[in-house]
Amino acid sequence: MSERTSIHGQWSSRLIFVLAAAGSAVGLGNIWKFPYITGEYGGGAFVLVYLLCIALIGLPVMMVEILLGRRGRQSPINTMKTLAKEEGTTQAWSWIGWSGVISGFLILSFYSVIAGWALAYVIEAASGTFNGISAEQVGELFGDHVSSWPKLLAWHTLFILMTVFVVARGVRAGLEKAVTWLMPLLLGLLLILVGYSIAEGDFASGVAFLFSPDFDKVFYTCTTVAGAESCVFNGEPLLTAMGHAFFTLSLGMGAIMVYGSYMPKKNSITGSALLIVAMDTAVALLAGLAIFPLVFANGLEPGAGPGLIFQTLPIAFGAMTGGQLFGTLFFLLLVFAAWTSSISLVEPAVAWLVENRGIKRLHAAASIGFGCWLIGLGTVFSFNLWSGEAWQVGGKTFFDMLDYLTANILLPVGGLAMAIFTGWFASRRMSESELLLSEPWFSIWWFVVRFITPIGVLIVFLHAVGVV
Ligand code: PFF
Repeated sequence: MSERTSIHGQWSSRLIFVLAAAGSAVGLGNIWKFPYITGEYGGGAFVLVYLLCIALIGLPVMMVEILLGRRGRQSPINTMKTLAKEEGTTQAWSWIGWSGVISGFLILSFYSVIAGWALAYVIEAASGTFNGISAEQVGELFGDHVSSWPKLLAWHTLFILMTVFVVARGVRAGLEKAVTWLMPLLLGLLLILVGYSIAEGDFASGVAFLFSPDFDKVFYTCTTVAGAESCVFNGEPLLTAMGHAFFTLSLGMGAIMVYGSYMPKKNSITGSALLIVAMDTAVALLAGLAIFPLVFANGLEPGAGPGLIFQTLPIAFGAMTGGQLFGTLFFLLLVFAAWTSSISLVEPAVAWLVENRGIKRLHAAASIGFGCWLIGLGTVFSFNLWSGEAWQVGGKTFFDMLDYLTANILLPVGGLAMAIFTGWFASRRMSESELLLSEPWFSIWWFVVRFITPIGVLIVFLHAVGVV
């Protein structure tokens, strides 16, 4: 059965698969979301838990997704249906694919709005707005930007069109060329920024914030009533760290599965997964190392929220020699990083429409793009018209709710289901014949997928709802 081929084509080499999957993984999650949630949740302890989730949950699930995709060679919905049938279990497993399609839809709807901020900042950087800018002015600039919904809408629309354009051309033709030079360039620029932060920022405070864990501060909420302090465990940072491990690695919704379905048979899944996870983690940590020294050197607030990088990095670009060029390049690369991720958000749905409905790629991509654009209006308004309390539910705006629902619930549930299917409902032989790992490595992986990963996800969920 491993002779199946994909009707959508195949990556031309393993390197291209790794770059495409890394292109999906590395995106706004690394450079925008990781720093701001790390800032909000107080640093070190949060980072440590996040890294543990990457190693114990992210890496094994990444291998699961690639192997399922490569074996099924179809859109995640049909792959799960085919494999479930082949392994003699219920085809209801195809709901994993459906949940992934919905997650992709919802994520792209807000992802595109944030990518639109980066697009706007390309223009700001290129036109010299950042030159000599102060911390205060940069805050005002960001405030002005998000308070104008027509502007956000225009950039959001442009980014959706960009995504539809590439997806319509087909992942290979649209993506292969872009990813080969993008990732090295992005890494290079991040290194320059880290170099700047070492020289000009408060590097020691930045490093201490990121890497010295204070578990009490992050995981307990303390209140003092009548002179007596009482602390309760707060499961939210734990859930956010785990959810972010899924989000940043593009796991739990079939994006990596669908990319795996285009992977040549002879390539090593384990080696590829290790490389992708290493690159993704490196980019996130580098972004943290670039940003926090600047936050502390300029007396900014680490918990500033989603605007964090837009309120810190321009200060650095404004002060450094060649900053106009570097700033423009940086935001341009951020747009590209978001672009290579957004493509993978719609690919599972597009692949399914092409397979089952015989719809042309262009039409499939355009209709999905339109749906995401429409839901995206909610996120556009979350920062202006609908930012008031009257529009919030439990202190969360529409954008916060979408972010929470997808990263903290839908993706981990999807990943959990994939691990349970592979470890408990499919045969050991299915995984063995795809991974081709020698012993004891296979047995270790098998144990992790059957026990450690599912129990890990469940424990985090139980903590979050306060059961544990
Ligand atoms: N991994 C992407 C990022 O870190 O920006 C976001 C993402 C892409 C999540 C694709 C999920 C996905 F399927």
